[in-house]
Amino acid sequence: MRIIRSIRGLQGWRRKHENQIIGFVPTMGALHEGHFSLIRQARKHCSTVIVSIFVNPLQFGPSEDFSKYPRPVKSDQQWCRESGVDLLFCPLSEEFYPQDFQSAVSVNRLSQRWEGEARPTHFDGVTTVVTKLLNLVRPSQAYFGQKDYQQLLVIKQLVQDLNIDTKIVRCSTIRESDGLALSSRNRYLSENQRRQALGLSAALRHGVQLIKLGKQGVRGIQREMKKIATKSTGMDIEYLTICDANNLEPLTLAKGNMVLLGAARLGDIRLIDNMLVKAPKKS
Ligand code: PAF
Repeated sequence: MRIIRSIRGLQGWRRKHENQIIGFVPTMGALHEGHFSLIRQARKHCSTVIVSIFVNPLQFGPSEDFSKYPRPVKSDQQWCRESGVDLLFCPLSEEFYPQDFQSAVSVNRLSQRWEGEARPTHFDGVTTVVTKLLNLVRPSQAYFGQKDYQQLLVIKQLVQDLNIDTKIVRCSTIRESDGLALSSRNRYLSENQRRQALGLSAALRHGVQLIKLGKQGVRGIQREMKKIATKSTGMDIEYLTICDANNLEPLTLAKGNMVLLGAARLGDIRLIDNMLVKAPKKS
């Protein structure tokens, strides 16, 4: 596995590999099974797999955990090597965002709701870094987890609006056997918090179940979900909502393709999760 840190190094490598079908998995490191499932999919579809590891300062708010974000560099490299990654791109922050860096990429409407309300500068940071990475790597396909569903839609919109010639592939959320969605931040959870965190996926599962049974009133479903999420847990729910899966607009009646989105806090730790569901056909 080749490791490249400099932008010129990556551009030079890319020029020498013009004809490759490149699958790209952008990450912030602290890799877990969720990332490996993205890498496996890229491996299946593409001749060359590139992974990037870069803890992107632009997507963290001033009171967020940028400096504390886990950076297990050696084990991440080892895992990538063992997963058959061809090239690992680990840019240096000083080169990626030099002092006179002045540009930003925004996706307006989609970025404003839900995560955008809780983290107002987050998506501009994501769309700016992803645009730079896609420009550098020029992959045929780039792989993103459904776990960050709003991020996935924002990136799809970005690629469509800016005519970037990369297919964005959605990969299913990977969960522990008890339902907890994998996340690099799960490692911060104490044993007790980890148990409490299960309330989030349980609430989403319950919402999906109610919709599949034909319940339509979103307010009632949300009330039921909230009861599950907060039952005997110290979890502070930020939002639990049912939206149109294509544009994240909130619904009043369950219909069409929907996404159930949730965000919650356990102490300093913020968790998000989501599940997709389709309204049952009326008989
Ligand atoms: O999902 C992530 O890990 C990050 O938001 C991404 C897409 C790598 C951009 O920094």
